[in-house]
Amino acid sequence: MTAAVLGLAAAEWEAPAGDVFDRLGYVPTPKQRVFHDAAEFDVLFGGSSGGGKSVALVGHAIRECVRYPGLRVGAFRRTYPELKESLLTELSTTFGYGQALGASWNGNEYELRFPNGSLVMFRYAETLKDATRRQGGQYQLLIFDERTLTPPDVVSFLESRLRSGRADIPVLGIRSSANPGGSGHGSVKKRYITATNYGERTYKDERGRTVRFIPSKLEDNPHVNAEYAADLMALPEQLRAAFLDGNWDVFAGQMFPELSRERHVVEPSALPPSWRRFTSTDWGFSNPFGTLWAAIDEDGRAWFYRELYGTQIGEADQARRILAAEGPGERISVRYADDAMWATRGDAKAISTVYRENGVHLTPANKGARVTGWQRVRTYLAEGPACLHHRAAGWETCPMLHMFSTLKDFYRTLSDLPHAVRGDVEDADSDGEDHLPDCARYLLINIGGGSAEQWLAWARRKAAIATGEIPPELPAGPAAVAASASGAEAGPEPALEGVLLSPAEARKAARDQRFRESPDGVMLRYLGGG
Ligand SMILES: Nc1ncnc2c1ncn2[C@@H]1O[C@H](COP(=O)(O)OP(=O)(O)OP(=O)(O)O)[C@@H](O)[C@H]1O
Ligand SMILES: [Mg+2]
Repeated sequence: MTAAVLGLAAAEWEAPAGDVFDRLGYVPTPKQRVFHDAAEFDVLFGGSSGGGKSVALVGHAIRECVRYPGLRVGAFRRTYPELKESLLTELSTTFGYGQALGASWNGNEYELRFPNGSLVMFRYAETLKDATRRQGGQYQLLIFDERTLTPPDVVSFLESRLRSGRADIPVLGIRSSANPGGSGHGSVKKRYITATNYGERTYKDERGRTVRFIPSKLEDNPHVNAEYAADLMALPEQLRAAFLDGNWDVFAGQMFPELSRERHVVEPSALPPSWRRFTSTDWGFSNPFGTLWAAIDEDGRAWFYRELYGTQIGEADQARRILAAEGPGERISVRYADDAMWATRGDAKAISTVYRENGVHLTPANKGARVTGWQRVRTYLAEGPACLHHRAAGWETCPMLHMFSTLKDFYRTLSDLPHAVRGDVEDADSDGEDHLPDCARYLLINIGGGSAEQWLAWARRKAAIATGEIPPELPAGPAAVAASASGAEAGPEPALEGVLLSPAEARKAARDQRFRESPDGVMLRYLGGG
């Protein structure tokens, strides 16, 4: 064998007799056994909470260490307190620090060392900085507990450290656990759940790695106490679906659960040239760069009709691609962009300058508070009086935001955008894949409007017809309001803006002439006082 390389300890060491799990006193549940026996390179054990996933990960790491002398295992969780509560707790309780196998625990380094030279390094990695610090070197087995909570870029970086410098030590692959939700929800769901049809099949990814999903259910684990199941039963519906049923299609952290293919997505069509058009851009190089195009119809509804999305594209090239995507007669009123694109970068020109030199004249989005921006996106996702297209299909209402079915990345990332798990939970998780949602936010915050304003205008218009102030032959609906507002008799509509108020402020505002509540519960304030 390789005693010379492994050193004295390994030379003196003999593989323990009998099954590793027997010696540890660990009896895997039948589902945990399926997980331990999986031969695929990249396996996710996931679904409901309490199924025995964290225990299985620790047991797996220990068994592989005994099986392959000299193995280096990296066991990751997002933060240190979380690591302590999950993997480290199981390591000390269920597995007694592997002492039955001669392993020794280094509590300063968080490392479990085996007599055969194998090593499990328990680490936390919340940011790329965490991942690069101290985690250099290589691993042959990567363990991620609660993988959806670890940002996807951190996972990718750590995956790049998966290799072996020695022919006698195999690269074993990746073992992860996950519950639905968190900033990695979208990428985890896509790779393991959607692509395997909920674990029905395995597949080989573009790098030739076999990928498998093993669903984990609470009822698979007889060791979990009855109160825990009762607690999960008592959760609000969305949380219960995610954590009890392990349902990946609804998850508690989803920012815009109201987004629906059936209501918001429309087939591409030629949009009237009279509609004002806007673009909105979020810059990135290693992170994706994105641009969205939207046209605004007579009702103030936003029709997102084109997207650009990609990484590793330089800023001059981004600008050229934006222009190349547009038709010859396509007139863009304003091109909004992330304010950060005006920042100077040492000797380099500001990104907005490079764009300008390549024919794309940007306007800073002046985007304001993030939460206000997301609130605006929400008022656009809400229903307004139906557009002509949907009215023809017999709908009475339709959302104030439509997107063409060709905008695959916009739909996907807006649908998967997670809520923040720390700080302001009304915010989106900025570790999520938020570039195109950010573009939408910049654009909608600038053009104003949204469902609430249109409903109000429409209701006023109807009231005015009822009292005879406006002749009834004008067609009802927001388009008519816009038309009559620009005409002499109705006078201009007062401008409104949505405001975020605390419940106490909202109660006060309800008695205040300067505020109106919209049908979807947003408080609106008349601009210009009065
Ligand atoms: N094979 C086993 N033998 C004894 N106890 C077990 C076994 N598997 C799991 N348990 C116990 O069941 C409980 C839940 O297991 P675990 O924490 O691994 O679940 P989980 O799927 O990681 O849950 P969560 O999703 O909440 O993180 C723990 O108390 C654990 O010690
Ligand atoms: Mg766990």
